[in-house]
Amino acid sequence: MPERSPRLAGKVAIVTGAGSSGPGVGNGKAAAVLFAREGAKVLLVDAVRDRAEETLSIIKEEGGEAEVFEANVINADDCRRMVEAAIDRYGRLDVLDNNVGISRRGSVLEISEEDWDFVMAVNVKSIVLCSKYAIPRMIESGGGSIINISSIAGLRAHSSTPYTTSKAAVQGLTMSMAADHGPDGIRVNCIAPGLVYSPMVAPRMDSDLREIRRNAAPLRTEGDSWDIGYTALFLASDESRWINGVTLPVDAGLTSVTPVTYQTLAQQQGVIRN
Ligand SMILES: NC(=O)c1ccc[n+]([C@@H]2O[C@H](COP(=O)([O-])OP(=O)(O)OC[C@H]3O[C@@H](n4cnc5c(N)ncnc54)[C@H](O)[C@@H]3O)[C@@H](O)[C@H]2O)c1
Repeated sequence: MPERSPRLAGKVAIVTGAGSSGPGVGNGKAAAVLFAREGAKVLLVDAVRDRAEETLSIIKEEGGEAEVFEANVINADDCRRMVEAAIDRYGRLDVLDNNVGISRRGSVLEISEEDWDFVMAVNVKSIVLCSKYAIPRMIESGGGSIINISSIAGLRAHSSTPYTTSKAAVQGLTMSMAADHGPDGIRVNCIAPGLVYSPMVAPRMDSDLREIRRNAAPLRTEGDSWDIGYTALFLASDESRWINGVTLPVDAGLTSVTPVTYQTLAQQQGVIRN
C-alpha cells in the first residue's frame, strides 16, 4: 500500500475555543489535536490561555505544530489580531473552525436582555467577526474551509431559547456564507453535534441521565468530542472538496427519528431498558 501523506499537510488552521471548559477533551480541543496530528499548523485560540495551553501540550507531546493565541472572539480587534497572528507565524490560512459557543437557559419570559445579547454575540457574531478577517487571507492562500459549530439544538427546541435561536442562526449563516464565498474557493459547512458527553455538559450529568441520552438515538452509543473532531477534520480536508453549505448532524441518528414513535417501538422491542 502506498504511504499516505497527512490529510492536512501544508495547511494552516485556526480553532476558536481550542481549550476545554473542564477536565477532558471538548469539541475544539479534539479538532485542534486531530488537525495537528494530520499535519496542520494550528493557532489555538481561547479566551482562557491556560485552557489552550493544555491543548498545546497534547499537540507538542505528539510532535505536532501549534501556538496559543489568547483572544475573546466577540471582540472585532481580537479577531483581526488572531488572523494576523496566524499569517505572521505560519504565512497562510486554510481552515477556520468557529467552535466557540456558550449557553444561557430560559424562555423569552425568563431570559434577561444582557444574557440574550451575550449568547447571540458569542455564538453568532463571533463567527461573523472571525470570518470577516479570515476570508481575505484564505483567498490569498488560494481558498479554504470554514467550519461552523452549531448544535442539534439549532434543529429542534432544546430547553434554551437563546441557545436554539443562536444555533439555528449559525446554520443560516453557514448557507449564506457558502453562497457568498464559494466562488472564491471557500467552503463553509456546519456541524450540528448531538448529545455528546463532553466537559461542557459533564457537570450536569449523572449515570442515569447519560443512559437516557445514550438510548435516545438509534445507535445507542454515547458520543464524545472526538466524534465532532473527526467530522471537523473531514470538512477541513480536501476530501470534502465538493461539500459546501451543509449542516451535518453528528448525533447517532437522534434527529432522524420521530421521538415518541421511536421510543415506543424501542420499548416494545425491549431495546430500551427502563
Ligand atoms: N459539548 C456538547 O455537548 C455540545 C453539543 C452541541 C454543540 N456544542 C457546541 O460545541 C462548541 C464548543 O464545544 P467544546 O466542547 O469545545 O466547549 P468547551 O466549553 O469545552 O470549550 C470551549 C472553549 O471556548 C472558550 N471560549 C468561550 N467563550 C470564548 C470567547 N468569547 N472567546 C474565546 N474563547 C472562548 C472557553 O474558554 C473554552 O475553553 C460550542 O459551539 C457548543 O455550543 C457542544
